[in-house]
Parts: sequence; structure tokens; C-alpha cells
Amino acid sequence: MTRFSDKCVVVTGAAGGFGEAIARRFAAEGAAVVVADLDLAGAQTVAGSLPEAIAVQIDVADAGQNAALVQAALDSYKKIDVYCANAGVPHRAAPLINMEVEDFDRMFEINVRSVFLAAKYAIPHMPSGSSLISTASIAGKRPRPGLTPYNASKGAVITLTRGLATEVAPDVRVNCVCPVSSPTGFDLNATGQAQLSNEMNAAVVAGIPMGRRASAEDVANAYAFLASEEAGFLTGVCLDIDGGRSIQ
Ligand SMILES: NC(=O)c1ccc[n+]([C@@H]2O[C@H](COP(=O)([O-])OP(=O)(O)OC[C@H]3O[C@@H](n4cnc5c(N)ncnc54)[C@H](O)[C@@H]3O)[C@@H](O)[C@H]2O)c1
Repeated sequence: MTRFSDKCVVVTGAAGGFGEAIARRFAAEGAAVVVADLDLAGAQTVAGSLPEAIAVQIDVADAGQNAALVQAALDSYKKIDVYCANAGVPHRAAPLINMEVEDFDRMFEINVRSVFLAAKYAIPHMPSGSSLISTASIAGKRPRPGLTPYNASKGAVITLTRGLATEVAPDVRVNCVCPVSSPTGFDLNATGQAQLSNEMNAAVVAGIPMGRRASAEDVANAYAFLASEEAGFLTGVCLDIDGGRSIQ
């Protein structure tokens, strides 16, 4: 598959989880990939295993580092065709009114400001026909208790996606994906355990009509579709990758 030959794809949060799968998917379809993450060693490992890739360290909440990431992509590959603003973090599950103010602010710094900064620095360099895709969450549309600041931050990503899409059309398409729960590093950050307990896993799966959590490949598939020519008329789409979780 070579749908993305001669394309430069930037992926944040690409040292693991969804971002790594997204990077691998675009690389498998011919793209040169900029593997960006706070975890430089992890990013280097992923980039080193791809046919054409560089690794860049970034804290996506930092304006200067976003500008530097864009410059690194341009220095290596001259343009950016697809920008995947995927990096994001949850907080430990807790009722909203028990949250620390700093933890609330951190959700918006990492999960929302990152998408604004990606757009601000990357879009002026993106050619006509390119696309910006972000990772929101189904919890941004259908929140459940315990992760309210996180869910609100993903709701903001959805609104930002739809507003920005109207501003930069028809040159750049702006979409996001809304995955359901998936067994990535996210579990550790949200629960303190590398894997959900059997009881917790069963409770999560019980709410998903397709009977399983999302895989990183489910998310990567959606990214590849949204970036492809087949999705050339789609902008402002917030695509549920949730096995039907949000129906009920
Ligand atoms: N896994 C889920 O259940 C789930 C569901 C819906 C949405 N999401 C979203 O998917 C995205 C990817 O998460 P994941 O599940 O792959 O988690 P993950 O923890 O496996 O991967 C996140 C990656 O982002 C990197 N990262 C964290 N903070 C960063 C920062 N400030 N700057 C740059 N990189 C940073 C981490 O080093 C890590 O490599 C996030 O936006 C997350 O909110 C996850």
C-alpha cells in the first residue's frame, strides 16, 4: 500500500499507544514520518524501526517546542501533508470537585492547547489538500463520571476541530477521532495499574456493543482513512471509533 508515498506525516505521542500505531500505519503506506514525543528514547526506537522517519522530542503544551517540531519536519521533508495531534493524557479518576486546580489546568494545557499550537504553527506550512487530525475521545461526546476534566478537554478538542475546519477550508481539512477505551499506556495514567482489573475490564466492555475495547490499529485505520483522498470531502468530522459505545 502506498497511498502516502511522498507525503510527510507528523505524529505526536508517537512513542507508544495510538501514536505509535498511527506512525507505523502511515509508514507502511509509504509516508516519511516525524515521530514526536516527550519520551525521546521511545520516539527514537519507533523512528529507527520505520523505513523513513526522524524522532523529535516535544512537550506538546509548549509553544516554542511546537514551532521547533514544525521546523524539524520542514528541514527534513520540506512540507507537512498530514499532522496528527494525537498526544494527550488522562488524570487519575476522581470526582470533579475533588480535583486539584493544577491537575485541571494540566488537562487543558496538554490536551487542548496542544491542538491549537499544532494548528497555529503547522497549518501555515501545509499545502492545499493536506489535513490536520486530532485524537479527541468518545468521552468528549458522552462523558461518564470520574474523568470530567479530561472529558471536558476532549469536548474542547471536538469544538476546536469543527471551528477550525470552517476557517481553513477548502485548503486544509480538519478532523478528529473519538476512540472508546483502549488498553494503552492510558490505563496506567488513569488508574495507576498497567492493566485494568478483570472486573473493571468487564464493566467497560459491557458498555460497548461490539464486545471489546478499541485497539490502537482501529484508531490508526481511522487516521489513515481521514487523511486519504477517499475522505477528501470530509472536514469537521469527529469520527467515533467506539464499537457503538455512544449509541446508548
Ligand atoms: N487509550 C484510551 O483509552 C483512549 C481513549 C480515547 C482517547 N485517547 C487519547 O488518545 C491519545 C493517545 O493516548 P494513548 O491511549 O495512546 O496513551 P499512551 O499513554 O499509550 O500514549 C501517549 C503518548 O503521548 C506521550 N505524551 C504524553 N504527554 C506528552 C506531552 N506533553 N508531549 C508530548 N508527548 C506526550 C507519551 O509519552 C506517550 O508516548 C491521547 O490524546 C488520549 O487522550 C485514549
